[in-house]
Amino acid sequence: MTNLLTMNQLSNEEIFSILEDAERYKTGKGWRPSDLVFVSNLFFEPSTRTRFSFEVAEKRLGLEVLNFAAEHSSVQKGETLYDTVKTLESIGANAVVIRHQEDHFFEELIGKVSIPIINAGDGCGHHPSQSLLDLLTIKQEFGRFKDLTVSIHGDIRHSRVARSNAEVLTRLGARVLFSGPSEWQDPFNLYGEYVEVDEAIKQSDVVMLLRIQHERHNEKTNPANYLEEFGLTKKRENQMKPNAIIMHPAPVNRDVEIDGDLIECERSRIFKQMENGVYVRMAILKRALQQVQNNQEVDGHVIY
Ligand code: CP
Repeated sequence: MTNLLTMNQLSNEEIFSILEDAERYKTGKGWRPSDLVFVSNLFFEPSTRTRFSFEVAEKRLGLEVLNFAAEHSSVQKGETLYDTVKTLESIGANAVVIRHQEDHFFEELIGKVSIPIINAGDGCGHHPSQSLLDLLTIKQEFGRFKDLTVSIHGDIRHSRVARSNAEVLTRLGARVLFSGPSEWQDPFNLYGEYVEVDEAIKQSDVVMLLRIQHERHNEKTNPANYLEEFGLTKKRENQMKPNAIIMHPAPVNRDVEIDGDLIECERSRIFKQMENGVYVRMAILKRALQQVQNNQEVDGHVIY
């Protein structure tokens, strides 16, 4: 069973293999299943990038896509996540891609369903496909992770992107800095050092901004002066290292985490991240489905 649930389940070797496959897909080459394969995308939380880049990835791989909208499903009649996934498995889905508001939603499924589960974001927990596309974007830029400084800014505590990225970047040899309001620091994320925003930006090769996760806050928080106090202003962008890049998983709160004029500036890789998301998700689906096909002794073939 080749689930993708968190980044820390992946060895460094597996990570580099996924990134290499993604690069191959980018050039128009790579594995496609020869058999009819169904993948269901179950999004219990809103999404634009993850949902549609998985769908484009699935279609580029020639897969049959079963799109699931929670609001038009039997979830409305009280059906559980487990029963929903078990149902899709019974009617022929070969893998499921799931975004869910509950941290670790996948724990209730592990060992009970026999198709691969791909985590497309669990609450404040993990976002492995985002992390892999971020790694691909950094690797394309610098060719390495070792000795890079990556600063992650903003709502660290509620961010599954920060959690997934800080662990893996540290493991791959990068130095991670955190910066943001003290009330959004994460006491359980020990993979970075908290630094004042101007200092973090001056030291960084990658400035990674995070969206304020309003939907996960008990109280509405949007400090009017957030951009000036904690965000990437034009003045701070001028202080970045000459070759440093800007990243943001998006969606972006324009003029909150980043000055709107910087979103498409020369340093920004925000839309490159989205493009890379398709190739990385093709590689993730390959990893999940290749084993399904092997297990079922279906004669998949390789096209290079
Ligand atoms: N970055 C990201 O996960 O975006 P979506 O919420 O639009 O999928």
